[in-house]
Amino acid sequence: MPVVISFVSTKGGVGKTTVAANLGGLLAAFGMKVLAIDADVQPSLSKFFPVHYRSPRGLSAVVTSGGNPSADCISRTIFSNLDLIYSDTPDAELQAWLNRREDRLMIMRRAMRSPLLEAYDVVLIDTQGAVGELQKSAAMAADFMVSPVKPDALSAAEFATGTIAMLDDLNRLADFGESFRSGDLLALINAHERTVNARALATVLRQRFSDHRRVRVLDTVVPSAAAYAAAATARVPVHDFDRRRRFDNSAWNVMHRLAWELFPSLANVYAGSTGPLVDAVDIADRTRGALA
Ligand SMILES: Nc1ncnc2c1ncn2[C@@H]1O[C@H](COP(=O)(O)OP(=O)(O)OP(=O)(O)O)[C@@H](O)[C@H]1O
Ligand SMILES: [Mg+2]
Repeated sequence: MPVVISFVSTKGGVGKTTVAANLGGLLAAFGMKVLAIDADVQPSLSKFFPVHYRSPRGLSAVVTSGGNPSADCISRTIFSNLDLIYSDTPDAELQAWLNRREDRLMIMRRAMRSPLLEAYDVVLIDTQGAVGELQKSAAMAADFMVSPVKPDALSAAEFATGTIAMLDDLNRLADFGESFRSGDLLALINAHERTVNARALATVLRQRFSDHRRVRVLDTVVPSAAAYAAAATARVPVHDFDRRRRFDNSAWNVMHRLAWELFPSLANVYAGSTGPLVDAVDIADRTRGALA
């Protein structure tokens, strides 16, 4: 089964979608089969990369089937190996639907065990920066969560209180059995400015969670750089947009460091081409493969 990573934070605008999309783009360029799921009711991951084949259905069918997705929920981006389940639900509807289900926390986790997902090496689930049942269901589906934190006082405080409270909340049922336990949470310092304040906050975050059992601050730091917004505008993965090998903090190097830290077995593997797919026959084959 694929490795499942959910991007969570109780604060908005910290970089969940940016990191999820770019990590997906890079892993796909490594040759891994990647499924990106937009579980944010305000679809932004859905629009991040151009879509080559738009499936008739999306996230709401995955959820309202109780976690039994059908092949017609999976769209294909123009990049090889990078598929998408888009968000298609009017704002509060899906959250309200989940609220009525007793098994709501387990629905996305169930979906991850679907035979349809066996074709993937990695599933990346993007969520909305707020507290809600859909976020919790997505969080419980993950082998581990990545939570971007901006090194400013407000974001760090929100991480230390809101996001950690969500983690505790998710694990309230863990006493009933291991299957109710969430994965660990990895904090990723994102949009780091080269200032004394940012450095100090990053140090404080690391110290604060140095002996936490379920939270770890990743060594990789994503600097604040214009390339992230510019690549998003150009709708290409940022490692492909800023390919400077010699500049330690280029997006090429930073995204590789992040991928290697999350997947140590990939260490020193470099991205190949994510060349846009143009071959419709290839797409049809892949669709059939997913159906089989
Ligand atoms: N490392 C970075 N450097 C500079 N800008 C960044 C960086 N990471 C993200 N951004 C910018 O910050 C903004 C917010 O990022 P993004 O949409 O990924 O956050 P989010 O956590 O998904 O937000 P939401 O909670 O609203 O879904 C975007 O304009 C993005 O381009
Ligand atoms: Mg987002």
